[in-house]
Amino acid sequence: MKSPRGGDSEAQSFEIDTSKPHPARMYDYFLGGKDNYEVDQEAAEKFIQAAPEVRVGVRANRGFMHRAVRHVVAEGGIRQILDIGTGLPTEPNVHQIARAIAPETRIAYVDNDPIVSAHSLALIDDEADTSVVLADLRDPRGVLDHPEVRKIIDFDQPVALMLVAILHFVTEAEDPNAVVAALRDALPTGSYLILSHATGDVHEDGRKDAAAVYKTATASMNPRTRAQVLDFFGDFTLVDPGLVLVPDWRPDEPVRPGTPPIGIYGGVARKDA
Ligand SMILES: C[S@@+](CC[C@H](N)C(=O)[O-])C[C@H]1O[C@@H](n2cnc3c(N)ncnc32)[C@H](O)[C@@H]1O
Repeated sequence: MKSPRGGDSEAQSFEIDTSKPHPARMYDYFLGGKDNYEVDQEAAEKFIQAAPEVRVGVRANRGFMHRAVRHVVAEGGIRQILDIGTGLPTEPNVHQIARAIAPETRIAYVDNDPIVSAHSLALIDDEADTSVVLADLRDPRGVLDHPEVRKIIDFDQPVALMLVAILHFVTEAEDPNAVVAALRDALPTGSYLILSHATGDVHEDGRKDAAAVYKTATASMNPRTRAQVLDFFGDFTLVDPGLVLVPDWRPDEPVRPGTPPIGIYGGVARKDA
């Protein structure tokens, strides 16, 4: 199936594949959602065996995302958001968080999973100033030039680019640094990058067995070190507290004692003049 809103690149195929676990549907399962198949549930259960903290981790990642969006809209004056790797709709969605503060905020949601697009279209697309785009992060030009992205995002005005829990699905061979650099370069001064990324840094076993579960999935899991994740911000200026584990990024309330360590870094950075 190729959505009418799919990218133009013939190199990318946007087939629905229910024979293999898919990151978006496994993530939905971790979050307690219903938009997943048996193949996703089996893989997700294997992941939970190897990384029992994953359900707390994905909620902590969502919490980071909520706080980061609130920050860039309320304090950074952002009114346009490009969310790449948006995932299956989960309330509150990015447009709901942003528009609770600034109702005029425009949002382009991008994902390479046709099931995500279909669900997002059904739930979100009748919202004004919102578009749902089937495109692939690994083709940054295809994302930036996509007519549905251009319809929503004016690249002469500050933009918040969101790469939340997506880059660990891009392998080194696919050159994630070049991909992110191309996206950063397209943003004007005053823009923000909101990014989170899985790491093996905080667990003794590096959560290698958990990452290996994705070998059977449609995308592999590539955890990175703090230094590698820091590189994705290029010359953008990290806002306080810098790149930290997601529960520690401006928590609304103190992190509860007994919360397991979460192997996901998160940070927000601004493009200065
Ligand atoms: C773990 S989910 C994260 C969802 C949401 N950003 C969040 O953090 O709650 C990762 C999402 O990235 C999407 N994704 C993975 N690789 C992608 C790629 N190369 N291009 C576009 N989307 C991709 C998956 O389909 C999935 O929806």
